[in-house]
Amino acid sequence: MANNLLAGKKGIIFGALNEDSIAWKIAEKAHEQGAQFVLTNAPVAMRMGEINNLAAKTGSEVVPADATSMDDLNNLFEKAESILGGKLNFILHSIGMSVNVRKGKEYTDLNYDWLTKGWDVSAVSFHRVMQVAWQREAMNDWGSILALTYIAAQRTFPDYNDMADNKAFLESIARSFGYQWGVRNKVRVNTISQSPTPTTAGSGVKGFGGFINYAEKMSPLGNATADDCADYAISLFSDLTRKVTMQNLFHDGGFSSTGVSEAVIERFEED
Ligand SMILES: NC(=O)c1ccc[n+]([C@@H]2O[C@H](COP(=O)([O-])OP(=O)(O)OC[C@H]3O[C@@H](n4cnc5c(N)ncnc54)[C@H](O)[C@@H]3O)[C@@H](O)[C@H]2O)c1
Repeated sequence: MANNLLAGKKGIIFGALNEDSIAWKIAEKAHEQGAQFVLTNAPVAMRMGEINNLAAKTGSEVVPADATSMDDLNNLFEKAESILGGKLNFILHSIGMSVNVRKGKEYTDLNYDWLTKGWDVSAVSFHRVMQVAWQREAMNDWGSILALTYIAAQRTFPDYNDMADNKAFLESIARSFGYQWGVRNKVRVNTISQSPTPTTAGSGVKGFGGFINYAEKMSPLGNATADDCADYAISLFSDLTRKVTMQNLFHDGGFSSTGVSEAVIERFEED
C-alpha cells in the first residue's frame, strides 16, 4: 500500500535493533512511502549487525549514536543533514531501557544509579535529541517528531517497574518541547502509546507472556501489532496530521478505554 505519503521527506530513525523492533517496521513502511532517512542506534547495538540488513533494504546509511551523548547526537545530526542533503521533516525516537527491569530489581528496592541511567536513556534522551535538533535548526517547518510510550505512565502495571515513571517523564517532555517547536517552526511532537508488543525491550518485562494475552482479551480490536504501529507512525509523519501536536495518542485496539471485557469476565464467572 504505497501512496507516497512521505515523498520528499527526510528523517532520522532511532531504535531499530532487529526485525521485531517497532522502529524496524516504521523504517520499512517509511521507505515504502517514499521517505529518505538515516538509521541510528547505540554503538553497542551495532555489534549485532542486523541494522545493516535494514539499511540495505531501505537504501539508508547507518550512523551510530548513544542517545545519552550530546557529542554523538551532534555528530549524528551533522552527518544526517549532509547525507540527506538538507534539513529534516521527521524524527522517530523508539528507545527504552531500564537497568532495574533488566536486573530484576523490584520497584520497592530500586537501585538509584540504575534508575538514573534508565530515565536518561528512556526519557531525557528525547529531550537531548530535540535540543540538538533545535539548536542546529535542523527541522523543516511542519515537521513531525514522535516517540513511543506505554499506558503504564497513566495507570499502574506493577511489573513495568520504573519504566512507568520514565514513560511519564517522556510524555511530559513531548508536551513541553512540543509547545516550543510549535511556536517556532510549526513542528509537531507526539507520543504513541502502543499495545504490548513482542520485541526485545517488551519481552524483558516480567510476566510479559501473560500480560500480552490479557491485553489482547481486554482490547475490542485486539492488540495493535508493530506493523499497525508503523502505519500509525506514517500517518503522523505525513502531511495529513499537521495540526496534531503535544498529544499522547493511544494506539491499543481500545484497551485504554475499556473497563472490562466480556472475554475477561467469562474467565472469572463462577457457576
Ligand atoms: N514492546 C512493547 O511492548 C512496547 C509497548 C509500548 C511502547 N514501547 C516502546 O517502544 C520503543 C521501542 O521499543 P521496542 O519494543 O521496539 O524494543 P527494541 O528493544 O527493539 O527497541 C529499543 C531500542 O532502544 C535502543 N537503545 C537502548 N539504549 C540506547 C541508547 N543509549 N542510545 C540509543 N538507542 C538505545 C536499543 O538498542 C533498541 O534498538 C521503546 O520506547 C519502548 O518502550 C514498547
